[in-house]
Amino acid sequence: MSKKTFNVAVAGATGAVGNQMIACLEEADFPVKSIRLLASARSIGRKLRFRGDLVDVEQLTEKSFTGMDIALFSAGGSTSEQFAPIAAKAGCVVVDNSSAWRMDAQVPLVVPEVNPHAVAQYTQKGIIANPNCSTIQMVVALKPIHRQYGIRRVVVSTYQSVSGTGKKAIEELFNQTRAMINFLEAETRVYPHRIAFNCLPHIDKFLDNGYTKEEMKMVNETRKILEDPDIAITATTVRVPVFFGHSEAVNVETRHACSADEVRALLASAPGIKVVDDPACNRYPLAIDAAGQDLTLVGRIRQDESIPNGINMWIAADNIRKGAATNAVQIAQILGEHYL
Ligand code: A2P
Repeated sequence: MSKKTFNVAVAGATGAVGNQMIACLEEADFPVKSIRLLASARSIGRKLRFRGDLVDVEQLTEKSFTGMDIALFSAGGSTSEQFAPIAAKAGCVVVDNSSAWRMDAQVPLVVPEVNPHAVAQYTQKGIIANPNCSTIQMVVALKPIHRQYGIRRVVVSTYQSVSGTGKKAIEELFNQTRAMINFLEAETRVYPHRIAFNCLPHIDKFLDNGYTKEEMKMVNETRKILEDPDIAITATTVRVPVFFGHSEAVNVETRHACSADEVRALLASAPGIKVVDDPACNRYPLAIDAAGQDLTLVGRIRQDESIPNGINMWIAADNIRKGAATNAVQIAQILGEHYL
């Protein structure tokens, strides 16, 4: 029997995540029959490489999805809101990296290590949502703990790299750092304050409850992916002057007692996780080690001595890869292998 192959579109192909999506399709040896690379009118005339060939970047329009089987979207929320339904109507299944569709009850929100079965619900709208980068790496570690011990409450603080904001933010951190070490004034364009040599407790918009949208994404998306609306979650999300790789301090209160050793062993055999936890040798998860690969690194696993059933851990992952592009391509692989 001949192997199935797919016509694949990447919307936002010139962006930080879109670029990585193209690379991940290559690395995963995804069965691409043809590829269409889409971006804004600004990118007309650009070419990007796929499997050694130079491919023209086309302007994303309503006609872009005719004949396409799968579209990976990472071109911002408003683009997804407008074009994902158009793509779906053309018979092209959308895997969307924006937050536009994540909390839609008819759109599955999928992390393949956690809830791959949810992909089946793509038929409702023809759209599958890729979760927020910080949520993805956290739920990969929470799922085995929830299954084994039941999670009652999660308290998370994030240390998020600028690449999560996109290409312009990567340039901003670079330019500000270079300016400052040369005693020049640092220009601020992307963030409301200087990011170089600073930490911003502000990611995405502020909401009426005093939290940011990013913080509430972690709360609501985690409950949806773990299929448990009763988990109590509170988050503080912080942008830090790191180029690639998000880190998180995660405190988990479980329903049933568990020791740090048990959690370490559980996570060591869980899919998508590498336990890096040898404090005596200064070994713990680092953003610089997480960047450029697909595993979620978990370490500093220790008992929370302030409550009966509590665990603390430190989680790091590549926000552009597992937090976005890799997760989207993994979803596309499930779709291609089992549903299309
Ligand atoms: P372009 O490069 O033409 O602006 P990042 O998150 O790294 O900033 O990337 C955003 C991606 O989304 C880019 O590929 C960008 O294309 C694309 N994009 C932004 N706005 C639109 C739009 N209105 N239509 C199509 N693509 C868009």
